[in-house]
Amino acid sequence: MRKALVAGNWKMNGTRASTGELCKGIADGMAALGGVDVLVCPPSILISTAATALANSGVMIGGQDLDTNPGGAFTGQTSAEMLLDAGCKDVIVGHSERRQFYGDTDVLVAEKTQVALDAGLIPIVCLGESQAEREGGVTEEIVGRQLNAVLDKVGIAAFSSAVIAYEPVWAIGTGLTASPEQAQDVHAFIRRMLADKDQSVADQCRILYGGSMKPGNAVELISKPDIDGGLIGGAALASEDFLGICSAA
Ligand code: 13P
Repeated sequence: MRKALVAGNWKMNGTRASTGELCKGIADGMAALGGVDVLVCPPSILISTAATALANSGVMIGGQDLDTNPGGAFTGQTSAEMLLDAGCKDVIVGHSERRQFYGDTDVLVAEKTQVALDAGLIPIVCLGESQAEREGGVTEEIVGRQLNAVLDKVGIAAFSSAVIAYEPVWAIGTGLTASPEQAQDVHAFIRRMLADKDQSVADQCRILYGGSMKPGNAVELISKPDIDGGLIGGAALASEDFLGICSAA
């Protein structure tokens, strides 16, 4: 049985004050939860604030991105070592906003995944097609290409710990959610790709859904056999909504 994982991607939101409040709200709700792993991914500058506020709460902390270099003259960037030092266990790689706005290619996403693994961080590898790609009937081709780029670089064994997040770009922040059947179809496709290389890794690997997940649709989505939790954007910024999704999971 795969344990559900609910991860909040806070994106570029929050101040120290609002982060303190959000963390308190989440920490207070943790006692009522069981059987679900809970992770929040604050912006880099707020990771330490969140780590302090969530100490001993059972909530894990992750980064939203990392640089492939270990350190040095790379203005504005965050290294794997810095994330670990700040208390992170996980890091998101290849989020569609990174791919769209910051030029993260399949090759770079694969490199970032390798760097995260080498450092001992658990990568959450994001995959997903655009609206035009879905309408063009090439969803599996796109998601397959994105996943193969990473698999070719890091190998199948990495996915006994690495997490995958399927996030259809057209569902992110739009209020449009993939139907449970649409999401399940892609999750099953991803798991078949893993199983083609190693059935036991495929059985173990957690595949999260992301894209306008809310307390009201989380049960339907997460009850699908290949959906093992969620990567939550907007609804992760309010503790009641985020906890609602955690308890659904
Ligand atoms: P929303 O939940 O706001 O659609 O964002 C999803 C997402 O991008 C999580 O990484």
